Amino acid sequence: MIYGLTNSKGGVGKTTISVHLAAWLVKKKRTVIFIDADPQSSASQWIRELGLPIKLEQISEPEELILRVAKLAADANDVVIDGPAGLSATTRAIMLRADRVFLPCGPSILDLRAASKAVQLLREAQKARKGKPTGVLIPNKLQKRGRLSREMMGAAKQLGINVKAGLSQRQAFADAAGQAKVVWQMGAGALLASHEMQQLMKEMTRG
Ligand SMILES: Nc1ncnc2c1ncn2[C@@H]1O[C@H](COP(=O)(O)OP(=O)(O)OP(=O)(O)O)[C@@H](O)[C@H]1O
Ligand SMILES: [Mg+2]
Repeated sequence: MIYGLTNSKGGVGKTTISVHLAAWLVKKKRTVIFIDADPQSSASQWIRELGLPIKLEQISEPEELILRVAKLAADANDVVIDGPAGLSATTRAIMLRADRVFLPCGPSILDLRAASKAVQLLREAQKARKGKPTGVLIPNKLQKRGRLSREMMGAAKQLGINVKAGLSQRQAFADAAGQAKVVWQMGAGALLASHEMQQLMKEMTRG
């Protein structure tokens, strides 16, 4: 399975969620290749420091992504791609190669409106690829998990995109990279964050 994390906006949780996804898949005994497609490469250090058997590739050139992802996917059970912010050719390339695209999104209606541009790109990819990739929105930094405002739900429905329960705003998520850990390695103080993230991982990998 090839998972792509992308969105038009920066700072919405693409790296946080993609690193956790890779670590989760390894915990489930899958072989995993992590592609850091963001030239800022903030995921790479985190992945290295985790010390887990995750093969790291840094590929931010769109042509190279297009050429190499299928080959890499043949060498592992799963590929996780952490995309850059923005609607670049790299984002397009991820949508042309992923089986599942997840769009982390901030908690406000403005964040959702910004995400609609990425949803448009997704539709174009789906048209070109007979329905692939699937696309799901992940609300992040919510005041309360699963508690999207009625306006947000309405707007997501208008966009015609599925929405996960998402993640709430928690210090443990913000602290994880600095501790070179994922939240389920962070002990009792991160228990709620750990539950929430593992629930999301189950949903992202189901089926
Ligand atoms: N649910 C959350 N609660 C608290 N902090 C969070 C949460 N999700 C992400 N963060 C923090 O928000 C910041 C942005 O997250 P992250 O780097 O994962 O986003 P990104 O979409 O990859 O950003 P960029 O576009 O810059 O690559 C980071 O400091 C991260 O620790
Ligand atoms: Mg990032």
